Amino acid sequence: MRTSHGIAVALSAGFRLATAAPCGESSLLWVTTYPVGAGAGKLLTLKLDQATLQSVAESDTCGPFPSWLTQADDVLYCVNEAWGGANGDLSALQIADDLTLAKLSGGQTVGGPVSTHVYGEGGRGLAVADYAGGGIDTFDITDPAAIAVIKSRVYPAPSDNLPEPRNQARPHEAILDPTGDFLVFPDLGADLLRVLKVNKETLETTDTTSHEFARGTGPRHGAFFKSGDKTFFYVACELSNLLQGFAVTYNDDQTLSFTQVYNATTHGDETALPAGTSAAELYLAPNSNFITLSSRNEASLQYTLANGTEVASDPLITFSINAESGALTHVQTAPAGGINPRHFSFSQDGSRVASALQSDGRVVVFERDTASGKIGKAVAEVAVEGMPNFVMFKQ
Ligand SMILES: *[C@@H]1O[C@H](CO)[C@@H](O)[C@H](O)[C@H]1NC(C)=O
Ligand SMILES: *[C@@H]1O[C@H](CO)[C@@H](O)[C@H](O)[C@H]1NC(C)=O
Repeated sequence: MRTSHGIAVALSAGFRLATAAPCGESSLLWVTTYPVGAGAGKLLTLKLDQATLQSVAESDTCGPFPSWLTQADDVLYCVNEAWGGANGDLSALQIADDLTLAKLSGGQTVGGPVSTHVYGEGGRGLAVADYAGGGIDTFDITDPAAIAVIKSRVYPAPSDNLPEPRNQARPHEAILDPTGDFLVFPDLGADLLRVLKVNKETLETTDTTSHEFARGTGPRHGAFFKSGDKTFFYVACELSNLLQGFAVTYNDDQTLSFTQVYNATTHGDETALPAGTSAAELYLAPNSNFITLSSRNEASLQYTLANGTEVASDPLITFSINAESGALTHVQTAPAGGINPRHFSFSQDGSRVASALQSDGRVVVFERDTASGKIGKAVAEVAVEGMPNFVMFKQ
């Protein structure tokens, strides 16, 4: 079972098999940063050793605007969002034993790639969501030294002439469903879940019926949850700050239907959120029925830095999923470690959470209790140059 970026599949009988990583074991994390001013963003390798988190390598092989990584064995796929450019890039980077990253091959994407996901038999395909350019690319990555575009699509703009960002299609994440037969892309600009049927063998993809949201919902990132014969999908909506849940129906394995089972604010209630609040990431924790999302620019909580100074923090908000109904119950609202947690992710066993605070130039790793789903105290933090926009544990 692939549990790389964007989706972790919970087996019905397999909840909470995860055990905590032995204390003291060191681990590595990948981080990408957006540039500040005229600088260039970087791909950083961080090492977590006990309570110390530090950068041990940095690379510019992915270009100046790296925004997302997917690891497949010893290859790291990195997209360069190439702000203002007509196109973006995908690079396949070889992870050497000494952690240097050498570019094996690359390819051009539609403008503004922000998320990638492996698909197809043997993990030979890679799908890319292109936010700024309003499209989706699929790549054949059978040979990482010769990746090749299978198809690049650009979707037409919605016809209602709304202001930016609703003026065009804006696919924000590539997500694979638990069967591997469908790729789902929340489209923040067109208020759709775009659904592509996958031919796992040929890697070809076909656009099928989309799910439509109310205009202005702004779906951004989501995750599937499978329980027995039931499948649910949850999505964090950036423009409305709503968290919506759906029961997923497979129609003769050709199309998907989404029936709403949950709808509340990203805090799980009806209370209006402060102006400027902007939902970002959402994941299902590994081997669990917990989802966690990040919300940006609320400054509603406090986080105590390692040196004792208290700073304002945005939240990471956790819910448990009712495996029968798909309804959500709020579990915890915890500090993300600062402002603008554009991305966070879980360690493979779910016992740690790493949070990238884009506006504060900080990455924080927290403890997490896999049984309760609650995020605990900070294990370590590090200040990084630029604006960290993505963090994941090396597999
Ligand atoms: C979801 O909840 C929000 C806030 O309560 C409401 O405005 C919106 O109409 C609801 N949407 C749906 C599709 O139920
Ligand atoms: C603690 O660290 C922060 C961030 O580096 C810094 O701004 C602050 O001055 C430090 N406070 C003390 C008391 O050293």
